[in-house]
Amino acid sequence: MKNLIAFWLLLQTSSIAAQPVLSITPMPVDVKMGKGNLLVSKNTQLVVESRELEHTASMLQEYLKINYGLVLKTSKKNNIPNAIVLKIDNKTNSIDGAYKLVADRSGLYITGSNEAAVFYGIQTLLQIIQTEPITNSKHTTIQIPFVSIDDYPRFQYRGMHLDVGRHFFPVSFIKKYIDYLATYKYNTFHWHLTEDQGWRIEIKKYPKLTETGSCRDRTLIGRYGGTNYDNTRYCGYYTQEQVKEIVQYATDRYINVVPEIEMPGHSTAALASYPSLGCTKGPYKVMDTWGVLEDVYCAGNDSTFNFLQDVLDEVMQLFPSKYIHIGGDECPKERWKKCPACQQRIKDNQLKDEHALQSYFIQRIEKYLHSKGRNIIGWDEILEGGLAPNATVMSWRGEEGGIEAAQQNHDVIMTPGSHCYLDHSQSKNEDSLTIGGYLPLEKVYAYEPVPPVLTKDQAKHILGAQGNVWTEYMNYPSKVEYMIFPRMQALSEVLWTPSIKKSWTDFERRLPGLMQKLKKAGINYSAAYYDLKATILPAEKAGELVYKLESKDKQLTIQYTKDGNFAAGKAYQSPIQIDQSNTITAATFKDGLQISNALTQEFKFNLATGKKISLVNEAHKSYPGDGAFTLVNGVQNEKKLARSAEFLGFLGKDLDALIDLNTLTDIQSVKLHVLDQNGSWIYLPSQIEITYLPDTDLTDAIIEQAPKEIKQIDPIKEKGISLITINSQQKCRYLHIVARNYGNIPSGNPGAGNPAWLFVDEIEVN
Ligand code: ACM
Ligand code: ZN
Repeated sequence: MKNLIAFWLLLQTSSIAAQPVLSITPMPVDVKMGKGNLLVSKNTQLVVESRELEHTASMLQEYLKINYGLVLKTSKKNNIPNAIVLKIDNKTNSIDGAYKLVADRSGLYITGSNEAAVFYGIQTLLQIIQTEPITNSKHTTIQIPFVSIDDYPRFQYRGMHLDVGRHFFPVSFIKKYIDYLATYKYNTFHWHLTEDQGWRIEIKKYPKLTETGSCRDRTLIGRYGGTNYDNTRYCGYYTQEQVKEIVQYATDRYINVVPEIEMPGHSTAALASYPSLGCTKGPYKVMDTWGVLEDVYCAGNDSTFNFLQDVLDEVMQLFPSKYIHIGGDECPKERWKKCPACQQRIKDNQLKDEHALQSYFIQRIEKYLHSKGRNIIGWDEILEGGLAPNATVMSWRGEEGGIEAAQQNHDVIMTPGSHCYLDHSQSKNEDSLTIGGYLPLEKVYAYEPVPPVLTKDQAKHILGAQGNVWTEYMNYPSKVEYMIFPRMQALSEVLWTPSIKKSWTDFERRLPGLMQKLKKAGINYSAAYYDLKATILPAEKAGELVYKLESKDKQLTIQYTKDGNFAAGKAYQSPIQIDQSNTITAATFKDGLQISNALTQEFKFNLATGKKISLVNEAHKSYPGDGAFTLVNGVQNEKKLARSAEFLGFLGKDLDALIDLNTLTDIQSVKLHVLDQNGSWIYLPSQIEITYLPDTDLTDAIIEQAPKEIKQIDPIKEKGISLITINSQQKCRYLHIVARNYGNIPSGNPGAGNPAWLFVDEIEVN
């Protein structure tokens, strides 16, 4: 009896304990907090009411054991007090994936409309446990707040994609990726398995697909368009046994794996393996650089279709998914235009053109897959030339394709580049190479997958959305993690949470906790959201600067230091006044914990810094910097960074500046900080002319008589320099500086005949 009372006491703590604000992502439909906490101990029983839930229950047990050292016994018996009860009951809410989680004095109950729903309830449970996971010692109890949660998903398709063609990721990472999806209640893993740069799935009937197609001889270094290669052979593919293992792993987590077998484009790895599949018959090679390639499957030969049907037969054996993704994007028509077999096919089928041939291709494959009980998904190019009857469209080139498909009563998955391409940069100042673009976290969060132009009935065709992860510039797992986190957490809320419940403010509140959890689990992520925005402004007093710092999250504090040591630094209250050379390091903090990356800015003062400056020609609107002031803001661009935001760019025009040194000043030298990058049409000036003006009214006569210095520059001889120095022994108040634009780009150079750019970032006067 005494034991029982002790046990009962253990199950609840005082009702006056402060209640936490729960942090669940994606935010549930409805959360009602109670007062008090449920304590779960090794005496707590796990009651599994339906056989189908046994595996899910064992995963929960495993999780509690690994993370909390807590081993729960299972029971099938009902009505055990203070148990964790898992149950399927679709009477209360029949929506696919709907669950109810109740924690109160009597125990914890997760009731779902189906197995997946109970799994989602468990994912929520794992996020509300108030006890820290163990590090070395075991817990005897874990604490769960009294709460009642009603929840269900907004969209039926909640997807994340991964391209394993450009870079290959091991089975262990694919499982981790699936775990990430499960945690945030995604239900679809779109596995992009074939590409120009590698065929990654074993097909028994066509062994060369992996013998030849899974290896490339080398890989491009740096951004697309470059000419450096690593000269390292790069290989990788999944055996059918591994594919089965991954599909089972995902199925256990209620995640459907949609395989993508690309056609007719992005197929050179297959062509390199079986050259007869192409229009020219080769030779082809597995590609070593990125982009869109002209060699595609020949649409004229039946052997292409026989091959693809054989491949798809094996794919269907491995993947139970109702959907098979057949690609369809970025298929140039150059080869088809010149191929007799393709032209014959156009003629025989009275097709209008090569776009109609693409439509024929997709429809033929669609018909085959449909006859086997499967449906296709294709990128939005499959609209061109007419949609296949049962096709679902993945809208990636914006939302237009999706809108058009929905208006034709076809199902749609929204993946517009503008909001869903997680390969795009998260910061304008990205610290590692990405494909480019700019997709900040808050833009992903703000995404609304249902375009307002659709009628209510058409809108029903928007099944959901998906984050796409193309891996040209992600060659190891931690880079993938960096690119998806925290944006896939934001997207999970787009997909799950009713739009009226979505709250950026609340997501922003949860974000540090989400990051902290990732950090503890050793998962990489981007903290770009917390990057400080810095602005340098002229101070009221000539010769001084003002350094303004802003955080997007206004709840965070900003600290700064002049010696790199935050502990001895200051809290930022208002813009910092700077009157001498200095290096300022700043970061955002929450509860004493550093949240953002440190931002370091070096200021180098000279006689012109912070002085009044005016320009005759304004900089081009593409490179405006912060106006004329940019040239005297104390920031001297480091050559290796050459951040374009810190330069003024003049297209075909001269730099013509007047600086007021505020008082009569002795001058030894004037230095112009410039950029010489002929490949980008940027040239050194051909001449610099400096006039030293006295401290009087600047009449024409005075200007005419003032001392002048002229320096000629040979931009071809002086290649690559970033500093032009003019030595002067002068006394003046005003400096008139003219840097002549190079003029038209000489022949034999990129951009020949066009006006050259002149890029200047600082005028230094000593
Ligand atoms: C795509 O991004 N080419 C679908
Ligand atoms: Zn052909």
